[in-house]
Amino acid sequence: MQNTQHRTVGQSLFHESAHLHVTGRATYTDDIPERQGTLHAAMGLSAKAHAKIKSMDLSAVKAAPGVIAVITLDDVPGDKYLGPFLHDEPVFADGETLYVGQPMFAVAATSHDLARRAAKLAKVEYEDLPAILTAQQGAEEKAYVLPPVHIARGDVEAKLASAPHRHDGDFYVGGQEQFYLEGQIAYALPGEDMDMHVYCSTQHPSEMQFMVAHALGQPVHGIKVECRRMGGGFGGKETQSWYFATVAAILARRTGKPVKLRADRDDDMMITGKRHDFRALFDVGYNDDGRILGVKFQYQLRCGFSADLSGPVGDRQIFHSDNAYYLDTFDILSIRAKTNTQSNTAFRGFGGPQGIIAIEYVIDDIARKLGKDPLEVRKANFYGKTERNVTPYQMTVEDNVIHELVGQLEESSEYQKRRAEIDAFNATSPVLKKGLSLVPVKFGISFTATQFNQAGALLHIYTDGSVLINHGGTEMGQGLNTKVAQVVAEELGVDFNRVRVSATDTSKVPNTSATAASTGTDLNGKAAQDAAVKIKTVLAEFAATKYGCAADEVKFRDNHVVCGDKASVPFDEFVRVAYTGRVPLWSSGFYRTPKIHYDFATLTGRPFFYFVYGAACSEVIVDTLTGENRITRSDILYDAGSSINPAIDIGQIEGGFIQGAGWLTTEELWWNKDGKLMTHAPSTYKIPAVSDCPPVLNVKLFENSNAEESIYRSKALGEPPLPLGMAVFLAIRDAIASLGEGRVAPPLNAPATAESILNTIEIVQAEARAKQLEKVTV
Ligand code: MTE
Ligand code: MOS
Repeated sequence: MQNTQHRTVGQSLFHESAHLHVTGRATYTDDIPERQGTLHAAMGLSAKAHAKIKSMDLSAVKAAPGVIAVITLDDVPGDKYLGPFLHDEPVFADGETLYVGQPMFAVAATSHDLARRAAKLAKVEYEDLPAILTAQQGAEEKAYVLPPVHIARGDVEAKLASAPHRHDGDFYVGGQEQFYLEGQIAYALPGEDMDMHVYCSTQHPSEMQFMVAHALGQPVHGIKVECRRMGGGFGGKETQSWYFATVAAILARRTGKPVKLRADRDDDMMITGKRHDFRALFDVGYNDDGRILGVKFQYQLRCGFSADLSGPVGDRQIFHSDNAYYLDTFDILSIRAKTNTQSNTAFRGFGGPQGIIAIEYVIDDIARKLGKDPLEVRKANFYGKTERNVTPYQMTVEDNVIHELVGQLEESSEYQKRRAEIDAFNATSPVLKKGLSLVPVKFGISFTATQFNQAGALLHIYTDGSVLINHGGTEMGQGLNTKVAQVVAEELGVDFNRVRVSATDTSKVPNTSATAASTGTDLNGKAAQDAAVKIKTVLAEFAATKYGCAADEVKFRDNHVVCGDKASVPFDEFVRVAYTGRVPLWSSGFYRTPKIHYDFATLTGRPFFYFVYGAACSEVIVDTLTGENRITRSDILYDAGSSINPAIDIGQIEGGFIQGAGWLTTEELWWNKDGKLMTHAPSTYKIPAVSDCPPVLNVKLFENSNAEESIYRSKALGEPPLPLGMAVFLAIRDAIASLGEGRVAPPLNAPATAESILNTIEIVQAEARAKQLEKVTV
């Protein structure tokens, strides 16, 4: 729904940097003109998944042309161990390697090329130690980064035993590389005394500031971290930009020179963590309608060598195991396996997509077993409006629109008609098979750790009437700055182009949260609004005295300050008058999300301020001889509440959906038997291209308004569209299921690469043949 009653909010304005993006003039960290004397850094990476470092000879590295400094763990002046959650990550390998790709040392040289060449010259002697390479192995050997988490309601064993139908199984869902187009980068400039200014492509400038301070062993106030924008983050720059920020800063401190550390794509993929891949074991009991009576899940998450954000990611997976469905009786165990691989981290959805795909997989299975349309089984399990509406974490779902939303999409996508057409097509097409799937998404908005749900802003009005707003969020292409500027323009009643958003800067708003969990606009928009309201209050009092009206008669609209019927002064002119009248023309703003609370010990409470809802319907065609496939059409309906910027929101929905489809279809991470990631460049790791977008892609916003008092009653949409991509995966499953008359649940693992599809087809055909044989012999 559009905010039609507003002037700026609700309008599909261009992204504030669009003109810079499309002309190549937008400044990313690597585009900042380099200061004289700048050195370039590269890291030396381990070649072994788990090994003792018997010796590391760096003499050739030091002697290489252009090399100015080489550092190892011993050269870290402050804390040698860092990490966002536990301090369990050494800045460089500490006597042993924990994964292939772990930084062991860093070199600063006079050019990027010389640094990279030098970093290859280390002579390292390793002594192999046993390595744990998969989550399953970690689970079996009880190797954990954090203790398992368990949540249950009711007597699941009894429900499973008494259910009319019962089905168990397991499946694997792969991870995903963030593949931000701009790689990880930091540029550290040593200032006078102990100052350090770090430009960093990061979603979390405050965390980078703290980490750099810890690594340098000095107070936080001397460190300034700045980020104008990122060329994408997708969660990959929420914590793991710290490897680059700290190493650049340590080298800058040591050499006294500016140091830039820009990771090459292969190194970036070898060093940094990805979306958690996982194995799920399930056991489900259900009735004739497909309604789930009891379900048991065990998730085995590959966390990598350290905890990083695996705790909260694993928790969010649990919190989304219900998706849009009421689970009356359940038992969920989440195992956070410690493996000798990259430390897995945030990726759009933050565990949510992993929880959602798990329950959808099970629901699809139930439909196959019962010979029903999966959509019918989905509906039979939806949360109720007034009953069957309490989540596994004991939060009541009060804003449920899933019934209406799915109903509308079912109609607009002509689901039933196309289902019949596809069945007819498949009956006569021996090689090409079509598949269709319509899936809902419900996604909780807020950081589960309550304290992160706060934000600050700093608003300046200059005497020419131009406005500068700084807030704690970061811009990664998602349009956060555009929306925040819209909010400020709306509040001050001025044109959008009068408002400029400054780069994110830790010296302006302190102790900020990561721009993550899709909360950017919710938090920073509200903080900016608060700052604007505070200024308006002071200005209104001044105007009232000056022009002789009541303060509550003063309105800010149409670039004017209107004082009842006494005066109407152009905004810029009024600002100059106010300045002359010695009124402060700046203000700070603050926001904390209301209502939320959450108990980590029992995993209960109200972790989310509200839910967003969406649904996607995708059709695919699969070549059953080659496994090749295409998405032929997708329809999406998404509840953005009262959208602040429909154009930007639709862009986020399209992007998230395609990224989710990529996760579950073409993006395959593959480690060899020695634990080396072999897919570490676009040549071997396939993200969706323009040509992978469906020729028909209808994205619409659902008419709604946030039931909670969020910023202009809008709803978040950074992450929740991503799991909608599972409609593509499940449509592929549907196409394969047609080979078994829709009665065989295809054991398709994700990603559904051509290889995975062909393997599954063989299994389904064999099972179908076996069933046929049975019929004949009986
Ligand atoms: N959109 C673009 N273009 N680039 C990104 O890196 N990151 C996603 C999402 N959309 C991302 C993006 C992720 S992981 C999150 S959490 C949100 O944006 C963060 O921004 P928001 O809270 O302002 O929506
Ligand atoms: Mo997004 S995964 O919360 O950075």
